[in-house]
Amino acid sequence: MRLLGPALLGVLFGAALGAAATCGYQSCPVTKPDMLNVHLIPHTHDDVGWLKTVDQYFFGDSVIPQLLADPSKRFIYVEVTFFARWWGLQTESMRQAVRQLVDEGRLEFVNGGWCMNDEAAVHYSAVIDQMTLGLHFLQETFGECGRPRVAWHIDPFGHSREQASLFAQMGYDGFFLGRIDYQDKLQRETLREMEQLWRGSGSLSPPVADLFTGVLPNGYNPPMALCWDQICSDNPIVDDDSEENNVESIVAYFLGTATAQVRASVMGHAKNYRTNHIVMTMGSDFQYENALLWYKNLDKLIKHVNAKQVSGSHVNVLYSTPSCYLWELNKANISWTVKYDDFFPYADGPHQFWTGYFTSRPALKRYERLSNNFLQVCNQLEALTGTQANTGPYGNANSSVLRQAMGVAQHHDAVSGTAKQHVTNDYAKQLSAGWDACQDCHESLLSQVIPVSSFTRAVRHHRGDAINELVFQASAPPLGYRTYSISRLAGRDPARFKVLKMLRDQPGTEHLSWSIENQHLRVLFDPRTGLLKQIENLDKNISLPVSQNFFWYNASTGNAVNEQASGAYIFRPNTSEPFLIAKGANLNHVKTEVVQEVYQNFSDWCSQVVRLYAGQPYVELEWTVGPIPIRDGLGKEIISRFETNLQTDGIFYTDSNGREILERRRNYRTTWNLSQTEPVAGNYYPVNSRIYIKDQKVQLTVLTDRSQGGSSIFDGSLELMVHRRLLHDDARGVGEPLLEPGDYHNGLVVRGRHLILLDTAESSAEQHRLWAQQEYMAPQLVLAPGGGPPYHPDQDNLKEYTALNHALPSNVHLLTLAQREPNSILIRLEHQFERGESVNGSMPAVINLQNLFSSFNVISLQEMSLAANQKREEMKRLIWQSSEGASSGAAEEQPSPASLDPTQITLQPMEIRTFLAQIQHQARSRRGV
Ligand SMILES: *[C@@H]1O[C@H](CO)[C@@H](O)[C@H](O)[C@H]1NC(C)=O
Ligand SMILES: *[C@@H]1O[C@H](CO)[C@@H](O)[C@H](O)[C@H]1NC(C)=O
Ligand SMILES: *[C@@H]1O[C@H](CO)[C@@H](O)[C@H](O)[C@H]1NC(C)=O
Ligand SMILES: *[C@@H]1O[C@H](CO)[C@@H](O)[C@H](O)[C@H]1NC(C)=O
Ligand SMILES: *[C@@H]1O[C@H](CO)[C@@H](O)[C@H](O)[C@H]1NC(C)=O
Ligand SMILES: *[C@@H]1O[C@H](CO)[C@@H](O)[C@H](O)[C@H]1NC(C)=O
Ligand SMILES: [Zn+2]
Repeated sequence: MRLLGPALLGVLFGAALGAAATCGYQSCPVTKPDMLNVHLIPHTHDDVGWLKTVDQYFFGDSVIPQLLADPSKRFIYVEVTFFARWWGLQTESMRQAVRQLVDEGRLEFVNGGWCMNDEAAVHYSAVIDQMTLGLHFLQETFGECGRPRVAWHIDPFGHSREQASLFAQMGYDGFFLGRIDYQDKLQRETLREMEQLWRGSGSLSPPVADLFTGVLPNGYNPPMALCWDQICSDNPIVDDDSEENNVESIVAYFLGTATAQVRASVMGHAKNYRTNHIVMTMGSDFQYENALLWYKNLDKLIKHVNAKQVSGSHVNVLYSTPSCYLWELNKANISWTVKYDDFFPYADGPHQFWTGYFTSRPALKRYERLSNNFLQVCNQLEALTGTQANTGPYGNANSSVLRQAMGVAQHHDAVSGTAKQHVTNDYAKQLSAGWDACQDCHESLLSQVIPVSSFTRAVRHHRGDAINELVFQASAPPLGYRTYSISRLAGRDPARFKVLKMLRDQPGTEHLSWSIENQHLRVLFDPRTGLLKQIENLDKNISLPVSQNFFWYNASTGNAVNEQASGAYIFRPNTSEPFLIAKGANLNHVKTEVVQEVYQNFSDWCSQVVRLYAGQPYVELEWTVGPIPIRDGLGKEIISRFETNLQTDGIFYTDSNGREILERRRNYRTTWNLSQTEPVAGNYYPVNSRIYIKDQKVQLTVLTDRSQGGSSIFDGSLELMVHRRLLHDDARGVGEPLLEPGDYHNGLVVRGRHLILLDTAESSAEQHRLWAQQEYMAPQLVLAPGGGPPYHPDQDNLKEYTALNHALPSNVHLLTLAQREPNSILIRLEHQFERGESVNGSMPAVINLQNLFSSFNVISLQEMSLAANQKREEMKRLIWQSSEGASSGAAEEQPSPASLDPTQITLQPMEIRTFLAQIQHQARSRRGV
């Protein structure tokens, strides 16, 4: 329903002109210090998929007139992807009206990313990018008043510590959550720890990564019976003199609901919360399409509840926003306890662990990770060439399509794998269009042609008929490329080596070598089973018995105890004991100078290549799983499990969004006394890049090529869930079983890699950091038909280029190099190590940014907040007192030095520093080698 046309909006705006604009905390409504203040927060939660596009969802058309008509009304908006599309369709008078509302704090942006990202399956680099994209739009459109003060993740299914750290570094003053584990929540309510300071980093000096974090009382929904959207069915407030007048009963109910949270002894202070302010989220999924209904009822509620104050009520209701609520908490100047761990895994009941989505849709999860890698390459090419040079050796690179597609893919129903199949297809399509817009950029020894394995032939069906593959060792210089020319040599038979077939338990094969090795590692197989038996680190003289096999958990379909079925979100195995896919594997064996491989065939839908490349310090396990059979009527969740004799005492380690490492302990939570009701699912954690176990001496690390769920279900073991196919919906909203059809509609086949590192416990960190980094920032391979002269060994066939004048220190990574405007470039440098993690790696690093890049000169440099929407020296976050004393609250915010010396940029462990550089492109030069 439209109340006002754009013309009328223009008139209203005209009338409002002249009033001094105040946004931010200064624009917050007045509260009553001697009462319980109930902050009503009108909001909508808009999941970023295609289900509701801008064509179907126009919150603005309906909300803006309501806000314009009444200065007391407030509204918050969160997902910039929706807002940007809506904004693009508005008239100038509507835009002016919206700007006015933003300037007066009546329309407030919270969070402000392109989407509200998932926290379990995302990589920190993609989170930073998607937040930067959304916040940049708000800054360009609204200036400082468009800058969100508050982070708002009311729907993600569990919360990572890294997310808190990133938000703190982006300058947010507070963070609100909707979903935490039900046992955790109960304890927090009892202890009044619904609000705390969260210390997001073990390395960054407090309070850099400290973030005030509040758990909302009712997810993000209104109190029961008080939902007044057009899609709700609760009774509206009737306050005329008709028979249906229900004011008394609704007011009484509301006061009851509010004061149920008030302690009789401390009147005015909430029972579960610590101040005389509480918050109520008045809205939910895709609401406020007809804002009049909501606001009309809220107006009446406020009027009639506050009218009771004259007769002694101590409840004061008001329109508010999350930042105004936060502001009151801050003004209360009380001391808050500190949280150090994270909010994984999330359970909303004893058999409802949301740990399945850590793995759901493994192919999309991999594609998202690859796309992140490609986006960085695309950004770099664009930045290095500048706008004027859209052609040439680098080709065309337009990163904006992929950047937006990646922004969408971070959404908590996208990369999480919890969207419907056709929505998922659309996410993939958007990414693919992004690749196309970047695709024109070009890059491009010892080699060996080896036969394409029968496994590969089986997977690809008729999409290609190559019988051999070329393997050679390639590398690219940092921020550069190296070209390799490939041509056919006449008269050379590629298959000059033997492929050994080894059937397990076959007499007569004992004499065959059941091992592969390179300079650093030896991998032994058990001749009886064909399984991995032992890994040896030859450099360190470590040998560890390791067996590895694939298993499936039988998905529960619900039972008498609880009807919960395993589904896209939830992992619930029928029993804790998984089933073997096969007792062993038949092996093929290929040994060349470049690579040694063992092909393990477990079944017609599960196989693996165990691979050692010359010179590499890891064992590569390339697994191929699917189509998962379901003819037996059983949903299956496939794991790769490693078993060792390491004494691990229930402890294992997983990364947080690819960055810092968190210790996990089986059947244990750091902050409450866990009653474990799901011995497998309740011990699963997100693994974004690595998981490891160790004892005093030895550490076994598995690096992943995408996000997966992982655990250590018994001492000495490690497992990763690689794929799942389920026959039932888990009743959390997706409304479909997780039955990915794959290309041939018989079930999805997924291939991925696990890299295994075996090292001493003390020197492992360096290895796994560097290789995890390699894994997510692998050089891009671009194939182009060659037209050059045929290969000649004496000829200089290797062409390479690097945009760096000198190498970065080995503990520093160039996280971002992206063009912001012509001649303005966004640069992020990160220290890759945690404090105390590595003797050399954890040292501070110093970089000279002035002459780092060969293709442009840095004219001036401005340090920015992490999402680059605020100057670093203007970042002034609210100060909070903590139970830890001065370490968090009163400590200084580490302002950057008054004058930044671009020749001496220092990075402390885990620090990311963000710069906007004005640059001047140099004439392009190439350095041949
Ligand atoms: C906050 O409380 C501390 C002591 O707990 C006090 O030193 C400080 O002055 C207070 N700040 C304000 C703004 O009231
Ligand atoms: C990049 O692509 C987007 C979307 O197609 C387009 O709007 C934009 O103008 C392009 N940018 C450049 C620099 O070509
Ligand atoms: C390697 O370790 C084995 C047993 O742990 C030990 O017997 C052997 O002496 C070691 N070799 C070297 C070269 O350190
Ligand atoms: C697998 O789980 C299903 C559903 O929970 C159950 O009916 C079936 O008996 C189980 N099968 C096996 C082999 O455990
Ligand atoms: C597993 O399957 C068995 C056999 O159908 C059933 O009795 C049991 O309740 C199931 N357990 C769960 C957790 O689904
Ligand atoms: C793997 O083994 C299965 C039987 O378990 C067989 O059907 C399949 O053809 C084998 N695959 C390859 C590639 O050898
Ligand atoms: Zn959502």
